[in-house]
Amino acid sequence: MEKIRRTKIVDVLKREDYGTIVNVKGWVRSKRSSKSVNFIALNDGSIIKNVQIVADVEKFDEEMFKLITTGACLSVNGILVKSPGEGQASEIQATEIEVLGTCPSDYPMQKKGQSFEFMRQHAHLRLRTNTFGAVFRIRHNMAIAIHKFFHDRGFFYFHSPIITASDCEGAGQMFQVTTKNLYDLKKDENGSIIYDDDFFGKSTSLTVSGQLEGELGATALGQIYTFGPTFRAENSNTPRHLAEFWMIEPEVAFIDLQDLMDLEEEFIKYCVQWALDNCKDDLEFLNKMIDKTLLERLNSVVSTDFVRLPYTEGIKILEEAIASGKKKFEFPVYWGCDLASEHERYLVEEHFKKPVIMTDYPKEIKAFYMKINEDGKTVQGTDVLFPQIGEIIGGSVREENYDKLMGEIEERQIPMKDMWWYLDTRKFGTCPHGGFGLGFERLILFVTGMQNIRDVIPFPRTPKTADF
Ligand code: 4AD
Ligand code: MG
Repeated sequence: MEKIRRTKIVDVLKREDYGTIVNVKGWVRSKRSSKSVNFIALNDGSIIKNVQIVADVEKFDEEMFKLITTGACLSVNGILVKSPGEGQASEIQATEIEVLGTCPSDYPMQKKGQSFEFMRQHAHLRLRTNTFGAVFRIRHNMAIAIHKFFHDRGFFYFHSPIITASDCEGAGQMFQVTTKNLYDLKKDENGSIIYDDDFFGKSTSLTVSGQLEGELGATALGQIYTFGPTFRAENSNTPRHLAEFWMIEPEVAFIDLQDLMDLEEEFIKYCVQWALDNCKDDLEFLNKMIDKTLLERLNSVVSTDFVRLPYTEGIKILEEAIASGKKKFEFPVYWGCDLASEHERYLVEEHFKKPVIMTDYPKEIKAFYMKINEDGKTVQGTDVLFPQIGEIIGGSVREENYDKLMGEIEERQIPMKDMWWYLDTRKFGTCPHGGFGLGFERLILFVTGMQNIRDVIPFPRTPKTADF
């Protein structure tokens, strides 16, 4: 076969220099045959659309056509021609076809309309389907949008460690990291494991959040963001939780609660707008196949002001809904309760019908580092609540006062010796600051309209599953 430089399908479909010989490579999505021609839909992942290959039966060996099955990999040389058919501008009149990889009939992605559960079990091959191609092209675009948003605003990309000795969220949901022989653990007289001889000489884990180190960055460089994997051993088998997920955590010096909420809102709107501007084909596909209200929802988010709602007012709204008989909830509502997803969704989807930034939570239900309000009872924490998703962002202004922060650390009995370096930010030139964490996969869920978080990360890690 004559060597011609490969053109990606995304580029071939834009070309209008009909008559030129081109080469495309990709995987067969489908083949239709008539007496005199075969029509092959070829996809190379560069775009959701396929290019149509027209192969005259008489020009090729019959045996070769038999190898062109769904999933097979081909290299095709041919003439770019204007397509007489509807739905595509151009197609390729094949002159040479090489079958790079045959695909037997037990190829699992062969049939259309497989369940998402089936596809999860074949996560190594589901990437080749239209839906997952669209999702992962969008995921890439969102990562680019995030870097661009922060870079354009003078934030520095800051790399917080993945292995850590501190539990940022204090929730004890950490995966331990050790090189110790688990069959032969050294213990002290109280039965506690001795870590002196472990790799780091102390107990270490995978990080649940880069925030604490992010604060060190922000109180030096002014404004930073992290973007990396985080790990939580919470046994939540829900469509919104992963054990390994990616988080974006900006942290900003000299920011107050208003500025923080403005940043959260501007950031999410920017990402959604980026998807609308840069992922049109994929979004249209998902809107058609997965969620008919997707585009409408995305457009609505970029054009509406988010509601800003203190927790105490949120509780009142929920209590009123219960009292008037408008709504029944499974979990009780009272001042001080940690809102369940049904409560958050009521506020966002039924009451306001808009994204809600909830603020000023009771301090008992939030992390130790949040700035305590003058009432002594609430903290300057913010959760951004989204339709369908629930909590997409969690953030706060940080307690910058050394004594107040120490008070919380002692009250919650957080081991002090692990926190000395964090406390130094409050000791040496402390400053007001704050930031937030966006769950990357929750953003992708929202932007793609997919229903399950396992379907927006290539290889999900959840309780009892770590395949691939
Ligand atoms: O609300 P979280 O726990 O906040 C923090 O970790 C703070 N340190 C962030 C900060 O202020 N810098 O987590 C932040 C976000 C959540 O709003 C949610 O979107 C996502 O991370 N998230 C998860 N996503 C998928 N699976 C899980 N198990 C998640 N847990 C949190
Ligand atoms: Mg949270």
